[in-house]
Amino acid sequence: MKTAGKLVVLGSINADHILNLESFPTPGETVTGNHYQVAFGGKGANQAVAAGRSGADIAFIACTGDDDIGERIRKQLQVDRIDVAPVSAVSGESTGVALIFVNGEGENVIGIHAGANAALSSALVDAQRERIAKADALLMQLESPLDSVQLAAQIAHEHQTTVVLNPAPARALPDTLLSLVDIITPNETEAEKLTGVRVENDDDAAKAAQILHAKGIDTVIITLGSRGVWASVKGEGRRVPGFKVQAIDTIAAGDTFNGALMTALLEKRPLAEALRFAHAAAAIAVTRKGAQPSVPWRKEIDEFLRQQG
Ligand code: RIB
Repeated sequence: MKTAGKLVVLGSINADHILNLESFPTPGETVTGNHYQVAFGGKGANQAVAAGRSGADIAFIACTGDDDIGERIRKQLQVDRIDVAPVSAVSGESTGVALIFVNGEGENVIGIHAGANAALSSALVDAQRERIAKADALLMQLESPLDSVQLAAQIAHEHQTTVVLNPAPARALPDTLLSLVDIITPNETEAEKLTGVRVENDDDAAKAAQILHAKGIDTVIITLGSRGVWASVKGEGRRVPGFKVQAIDTIAAGDTFNGALMTALLEKRPLAEALRFAHAAAAIAVTRKGAQPSVPWRKEIDEFLRQQG
């Protein structure tokens, strides 16, 4: 039997080492930063936190190392209203790490060491078969082994659990995986990797969306940065603008969008309303530094939306 409104997120956990600097260094150059922070991140964990803080009933399938930071992250995830029973501490492994530069425009570049995220094996996914089968939706990204993502999608598909894929970081994907996906949320770079279409305007986004529909995906939401999203359902597409805010740091903006979108969709809100809710969460996140420290709580999103009228 399904648990109504239940979300399962499968994905990565990282400790983010973030250095803010005026501009990115070029090869061979050393640049002094103006702010350094270690914050909890990882695309999976960020999306889980965004869902938890915005009000979803959520469990998280992931791996940390058996180290101190892994233990601290696990405790914080519980504070963020996440069921961490399926988070494994992998013996002899270190928790994943992301090294991040953020420039004066709030843009970022990221390098990752997978660490324990690489240990999220098919066997660990199989052990969570029942949890995935009972959920309403499964949300995944691509910082976990692809075999495990594929297996989780198969289990979900077999049990009518909606499969949502945020295909980040960008990589080509087999049609066997894409055909199991119900909702996909690439950014422009990821959409190009998956379709070969360079997404520079709405027409390009519509073309990329059609290619993803042809692979069997009903709902395609291409995020377009400050221009909002291209939302296409079974071939009917339109651009939905976001909110204008002064961005200081875009780390985890997409993750916040995905997590909050799931909360709203699982509350059975219409897509347009769910997109507005997700846009509001992401708009708040870009006005704050870091990944999880920037993710808003439900009352902050509701307040933001009230102010927009
Ligand atoms: O999407 C942002 C995230 O990407 C960061 O938190 C970092 O850990 C990387 O996974």
